Amino acid sequence: MNKEQNSPNNNEKRDSTKGVKFNLFDHKFNANPYPTYHGLRNEDPVHRYFVGGDWIVTRYADVKAVLKSSCVSTDDRPKSIQERNKYFLHKEKNLDTLAYTTSRFLFYMNPPDHTRLRGLVGKGFSSVVVERMRPHIQEIVNELLDKVRHKGSMDIVAELASPLSVSVISKLLGIPKEAQQQLHQWTNVLSRILDPLVSLKEYEAMNQATEEIQEYLRTLIAAREKEPQEDFISNLIAAKDQSDRLSQKELLAICTLLFGAGEETTGNTIGNGMLALLQHPNQMEQLKREPTMIQSAVEEVIRYDSAIQMLTRIATDNIEIGNQTIKAGEKIVLCLGAANRDPAQFPNPDELNINREHNQHVAFADSIHYCLGAPLARLETQIAINTLIQTFPNLKLASNKQEWKKSIVIRGLKSLSVSFTN
Ligand code: HEM
Repeated sequence: MNKEQNSPNNNEKRDSTKGVKFNLFDHKFNANPYPTYHGLRNEDPVHRYFVGGDWIVTRYADVKAVLKSSCVSTDDRPKSIQERNKYFLHKEKNLDTLAYTTSRFLFYMNPPDHTRLRGLVGKGFSSVVVERMRPHIQEIVNELLDKVRHKGSMDIVAELASPLSVSVISKLLGIPKEAQQQLHQWTNVLSRILDPLVSLKEYEAMNQATEEIQEYLRTLIAAREKEPQEDFISNLIAAKDQSDRLSQKELLAICTLLFGAGEETTGNTIGNGMLALLQHPNQMEQLKREPTMIQSAVEEVIRYDSAIQMLTRIATDNIEIGNQTIKAGEKIVLCLGAANRDPAQFPNPDELNINREHNQHVAFADSIHYCLGAPLARLETQIAINTLIQTFPNLKLASNKQEWKKSIVIRGLKSLSVSFTN
């Protein structure tokens, strides 16, 4: 990818949208986006698309180049939320809480603000800190599996993946058990923030959910201020008090972000990963025989069916991607799911191969916004999958047809029913 070099063919290139059939909102795309991604990547890898963003990029090399480029900024979603306030006739109705809170979501921020906040938050999610969570994660997985042992069947999403990811992020942040379910429901509403098309009504619901989350967090923070605990919220309060670098509003926004980002993605990854293994019995058998393969197996399931399928960036300068020129101010949708199945980077990309080498997928993005929770997501997924398949070695899919959550950006199963014998 280069900055534009005054190419004489620019206009011609911009108009040359090829005949790739592509509808982000089609239920077939939702169920299985990969054939569409292959079509786009082969025929029109930098595709002009006006509905969900201006350009759709599907090749691994192009996605990686945009992620690393200094000529792009993050999605301007907080600004567009703020602008929606003009649709309210009564001024007491507004989206201010949502607009401010999302403006402090790291993935919508740019340097230097991003650098400062990420520096403060990052330490709490390092591999060393996360590794200390191992016994706790194992304990929760064991408890969840004990609960279903007698039944001979389970829904992996509702009875393992989702409660595990909620419990783990709660433990790390310091959120007590009795509040976890309510927070999970609120952040479920808020997760629509990632989708490209959101109605005013949905924004209002998200604003309301954010206010409720923060009302709860204010009380929790006040309690931690009086009596600090060994948790992330107490550490952030200390950072705020020591150097006055973190405001109360920022603290609330960060806690909201971390709870939301930490639970749904990981829950979906465990569900998607188990489905992939159940659909590839030879890979499942190898992993059961060789549990030490779990790290490489988890990288592969994360590549194969990524929980976050798309990211948006905005060009800050005219840039060339593939043979197209993208103008400053235009939106670029990066298809991580398509890049992770690019045959130019991954031989036989549609095959699940837990022995895959050089698996440099982009499921956690790259560069300054590389997923902060990647070490935690990896550890949780490794422990959940290995324990599940060792505890119930004869898991069987209850149905060959699965239903996916209705989201373009987030990829996750509504449920994953399996049977087993003890
Ligand atoms: C397998 C599960 C996960 C996946 C696939 C995933 C994916 C991603 C991706 C693609 C980004 C980049 C966003 C962008 O560049 O616009 C990201 C950023 C982020 N993720 Fe994750 N994530 C996962 C789990 C987690 C967990 C467990 C946490 C824990 C708190 C977390 C926290 C974050 C945060 C805070 C950012 C923003 C980083 C920044 O912009 O500096 N994620 N994640």
